[in-house]
Amino acid sequence: MSQIILTGIGDVDDNVRLEKNPDLTIDAGDLLVAIEAAPVNPTDFLLANGWYGVQPEIPSTLGSEGVGRVLEAGSVSNRELVGKRVVILPTYEQGTWSDRVVVPARNVVVVPEDADALQLSMLAINPATAHILLNRYVDLKPGDWIGQNLGNSAVGQIVIALARLAGVRTLSVVRREEAAERLRALGADVVLVDGDDLGERIAEALGGARLRLVLDGAGGTTPGALAGALEFGGTVVSYSSTTGESSPLSLGDLIYREITLRGFWLINWIRNAPRAEIEKTYSELADLVARGVLTVPVEATYALDQYREAFAHARTPGRAGKVLFALTSASA
Ligand SMILES: NC(=O)c1ccc[n+]([C@@H]2O[C@H](COP(=O)([O-])OP(=O)(O)OC[C@H]3O[C@@H](n4cnc5c(N)ncnc54)[C@H](OP(=O)(O)O)[C@@H]3O)[C@@H](O)[C@H]2O)c1
Repeated sequence: MSQIILTGIGDVDDNVRLEKNPDLTIDAGDLLVAIEAAPVNPTDFLLANGWYGVQPEIPSTLGSEGVGRVLEAGSVSNRELVGKRVVILPTYEQGTWSDRVVVPARNVVVVPEDADALQLSMLAINPATAHILLNRYVDLKPGDWIGQNLGNSAVGQIVIALARLAGVRTLSVVRREEAAERLRALGADVVLVDGDDLGERIAEALGGARLRLVLDGAGGTTPGALAGALEFGGTVVSYSSTTGESSPLSLGDLIYREITLRGFWLINWIRNAPRAEIEKTYSELADLVARGVLTVPVEATYALDQYREAFAHARTPGRAGKVLFALTSASA
């Protein structure tokens, strides 16, 4: 049994160890889950550094999401879950970088057997985020345009895939030509590389059409350039800032064009949405994963004891896909 443990707030390189004999006591509302796979996400590093919307209690397990199989239930009422494959929701009450983990039963959702484990391990955060970003703020119709930065991130690629399913067209901004080519090969409508004259190039690519929604995961200058192409009263949703800067909109866009700036955090949805909505959303998204409609490229998988290599790899700019922990001991 191994779990990656955060021993102090700060960079994971200096504050993480592998615990070989973790406490796996199962209380009445808990499940014991054998993890099959768990990704390394940008938020995991933010959490370790104390920069996330949730503060870890030290010592803390790490790993925000993952997929696994239920080995034991702490009460008779959850016994029907034993043997089931489940994804673990990012409530930060348990860490998925573990080969066994104790999870409150409310933090899991049952998923299909016939889907790829690596893809399912990435279901809970980014597909749900992309789905809500596309559906909550603007009533999009086939033929509408949306704009986004971070187009080649996992969120961005799922936004493109879900928008295509709905007949919605996407204009994506990335920061490297190689990433742009990869997205175009996947069928993205318009992909632009950030840089000089971005606003003019966006307007030219749209050919007179207007964006109805802008999704901002980068902050800095690109949200302003994308917002310039929004329709009157259009919406920018800020869901992260990889540059560390906020999403400044021009006064002209805010006042004369009545552009709205909204914020989104998935954890609020998980905390507040009715359980039936959460289960329906994940069931529909898991079905798309099982059918191969939603896939996120995987660049590498690691064992838990290779965590230093996994962290370095996950933090390398210009990756072509996600880095995950893939575990082999997930049988009951
Ligand atoms: N609000 C929420 O609830 C929510 C939910 C899910 C995700 N998120 C956030 O959404 C973002 C994307 O997550 P993900 O898992 O999809 O990421 P990911 O697949 O790991 O991709 C990371 C992306 O960030 C880009 N990037 C990294 N540093 C950058 C910088 N300094 N300037 C501009 N771009 C930079 C990378 O570009 P290159 O390929 O060029 O390196 C890549 O496109 C993360 O910040 C994550 O925390 C928020």
